[in-house]
Amino acid sequence: MDKDRFVEDCIVANRGSDAQAAVIEVLAKAVRRPAEVLAAIGEPREAGINVFHRSESLTIFSATWTPRMYLMPHDHLMWANIGIYTGREDNIMWRRSHDTIEAFGAKALFEGDTASLAIDAIHSVSNPLCRFTGAIHIYGGDFFETRRSLWNAETLEEEDSDGAIIRGMFERENELFRGGKAS
Ligand SMILES: [Fe+2]
Repeated sequence: MDKDRFVEDCIVANRGSDAQAAVIEVLAKAVRRPAEVLAAIGEPREAGINVFHRSESLTIFSATWTPRMYLMPHDHLMWANIGIYTGREDNIMWRRSHDTIEAFGAKALFEGDTASLAIDAIHSVSNPLCRFTGAIHIYGGDFFETRRSLWNAETLEEEDSDGAIIRGMFERENELFRGGKAS
């Protein structure tokens, strides 16, 4: 995979009338050859968000997950496409119910798999493996500028979130991972 070419193809696909479907075609084609994605962007060694492209209408990054990492329920308020290039992401799908949320579905994504999430989707994500997971995440908007919500994992209380808050969570997972390895 050529990373610049991949980003360019996504930008072009995003101009069409059904941008999400066109972009996931580009993404699916890329992660169908996961070894090539790994060769292009590297084996994950820490949790993080590595931004390939960011504009008002499109954000592309690789998200890497430490072993057994968990991310609490959150929304994006824009469409999202996910493609796994190494490891596994387990998604629980949630929906709003009265003044809280309830789980209603699950999707296990393995290497080579893709998933499309609608604008109003809420999901929580975990890496169930004892090794790192890596996925390319593509959003139909500026992921880092948009104010949105996350829900406390224990109480399901809704809180404010944005790209910086999510990024901070990935950073804390690295500290936990390093601490776990040291003990
Ligand atoms: Fe997400």
